[in-house]
Amino acid sequence: MAKDRALENSDRGLRTWIRERLAMGNLDYQVPGYANTLAFSLGGVTLISFLILVISGIILAQFYKPDPAAANGSLRMLMTQINMGNILRGVHFWAAQVAMVTLILHLLRVFIYGSYKRPREINWLIGVGLFFGMIGLYYTGTVLKWDQEALEALAHTKEVAELAGVFGLFFTDKFAQGAHLLTRMYSIHISLLPLLVVGLLTIHLLLVKGLKISPLPWDNVSSGDNQSFSQHLVNLSGYGFILLGVITILAVLLPPELGPVPVEGIEATKPPWLFLGIFSIENWTGLQGLIWASVLLALGLVAVPFIDRAATNNIKQRKPIVGAGILIVIFALALTVNGYVAEPEQHLDMGEEVEQVNTDLDNQSPASEDSAEKTAEEEIDSVLAPEIKKLNNALVVMEEIEKAVKANDFHEAVEKAGELDEILDAINAQIAAKDKERAADLKEHVHELVEILEKPQPDLEEVNDLIVHTEESVEKAVSLFE
Ligand code: HEM
Repeated sequence: MAKDRALENSDRGLRTWIRERLAMGNLDYQVPGYANTLAFSLGGVTLISFLILVISGIILAQFYKPDPAAANGSLRMLMTQINMGNILRGVHFWAAQVAMVTLILHLLRVFIYGSYKRPREINWLIGVGLFFGMIGLYYTGTVLKWDQEALEALAHTKEVAELAGVFGLFFTDKFAQGAHLLTRMYSIHISLLPLLVVGLLTIHLLLVKGLKISPLPWDNVSSGDNQSFSQHLVNLSGYGFILLGVITILAVLLPPELGPVPVEGIEATKPPWLFLGIFSIENWTGLQGLIWASVLLALGLVAVPFIDRAATNNIKQRKPIVGAGILIVIFALALTVNGYVAEPEQHLDMGEEVEQVNTDLDNQSPASEDSAEKTAEEEIDSVLAPEIKKLNNALVVMEEIEKAVKANDFHEAVEKAGELDEILDAINAQIAAKDKERAADLKEHVHELVEILEKPQPDLEEVNDLIVHTEESVEKAVSLFE
C-alpha cells in the first residue's frame, strides 16, 4: 500500500517536473466543449496525417533516387528488397489520401459553419494557401514514382507552364538547365512545399488560438461545458492513434501500385482521384480549361469571406451561399465520377502525332485510298514501331530462355527472365492502353515464370507450359500494334 502510494507520488512528481519544464500549463486555456466533436477536429486530424507524412517521407527519402533513370527502380527496390519497405511506402501513400480527404472536409466544415467570418478572414486566406500547398505536395508526390502516370503528369506541368508564359517559367526545363524536371519536383516536394506548409500552418494555428474557436452556426445551442485545451489535445491523440492504425492496415491490405518505367510520347493513363474532376474538364476543353478551372477555384475560395460579409454565421440566414457551396461540391463530385468512368485521352502535343495518324486514316477518300493508306501506315509505323520492336526483342529473349532451360542452365534462364521482365515492363503501359487484360495477363505470366525459374528445383513441365503461354501472350500483344 505504502509502496503504491510512493510510486504514485513519484509518477506525479515526474509529470509535474516535465509540465513545468515544458511550460505545459500554457496549454490549459479553455476551449468550448464542441471543439472536441469530429467536425471541429478535422483540422487536427489533417495535422496528424501531415505529421505521419513528414515522418514516413523522411524515411522514404533515404531510399529514393530522384533521377529519371533510377527513380522507378529505387522504389521497386524499396518495395521488394527492404524489410517493411512496401508498408512504409503504403503508409506515406495512405496518409496522403487521408490528409486530402480530411483537408477538404475541414475546408467544407469551416465554409458551412461560416467560420471564415470576421475576425477570421485572414485565417481563411491562410487556409486557402494551405489547401493549394497540400495539393502541390500531393501532385509532386505523384510525379516522383516515375511510372506512366507520373510522366504524363509531368508532361502536363510542362505544357501548362508553357501556356502560362513567364508565370510558368519555374516549371519548364529552361529554368534550371541541366537539371531534369523530375529532380526539381523532388526538391519542391521535400523542401519548398513542406517549408511553405509548415510556415503557413504555424500562423494558422496561432490565429486559431488568438481568435478562439468560432461559435456554432445554429440557434439556441448550448456550447456545452468549456474544457481545457490540453484535454482537447489528449482527445486528438486518440484520433491520431486510430488514424495511424487505419493507415497501417490500409498500407498492408492495399499497398499502392507502381507502374513500369514510363514511355515518352503517349497518353495512356488517368490522374489520381483528386484530379479526376479537372481531368473531365480537360477532356472537354483541353489544357486551357484546366488552367481556367484552377484559377477560378482559387479566386472563388479567396473571395468567400469578401462575398459573405454579414455578421451572422447562422446557417439559416446564409442559405444562398451555403446552397451555392453545396451545388459546387455536387458539381465537383459529378466531374470526379465522370473522370473515373472516362477513358484516357490525348491532350498534349505528344499525343497529337498518334491522333493525327488516326484522323488521316478516317478521312482518306476512296480514290486516294491506296496511297493515303500507305503513307498513314508508314506514319503509324514510325510512331508505333518501337512497341513491335520491343515485343520482337522479348520473343528473342524468350527463345534464349528456352535454350537455357533445355541446357539445364537455370542460372542463365533466371537472368534472361529478368531481362524479359524489364523489356515487357517498359512497354506495359502501351499494351494496357490498347488492352488492359492482355497487359495484366502478360505481366502475370512473366512474373510467374521468373518466380518458378528462381526456385531451387524448377518443375520442367511447369516451366515449359509457362514459356508457351508467355510466348502466346507476347504474340497477341504484337498483334495489338500491327
Ligand atoms: C494542412 C491543412 C490544414 C490544417 C492542418 C488545419 C488545421 C486547423 C486546425 C487544427 C484548426 C482548429 C479547429 C478545427 O480543427 O476545425 C483549424 C481552424 C481553421 N481552419 Fe484550418 N487547417 C488546414 C487547412 C485549412 C483550409 C484549407 C482552410 C480554408 C480554406 C482552413 C480554414 C480554417 C479556419 C477559418 C479556421 C478557424 C475555424 C474556427 O474557428 O472554427 N484551414 N485549422
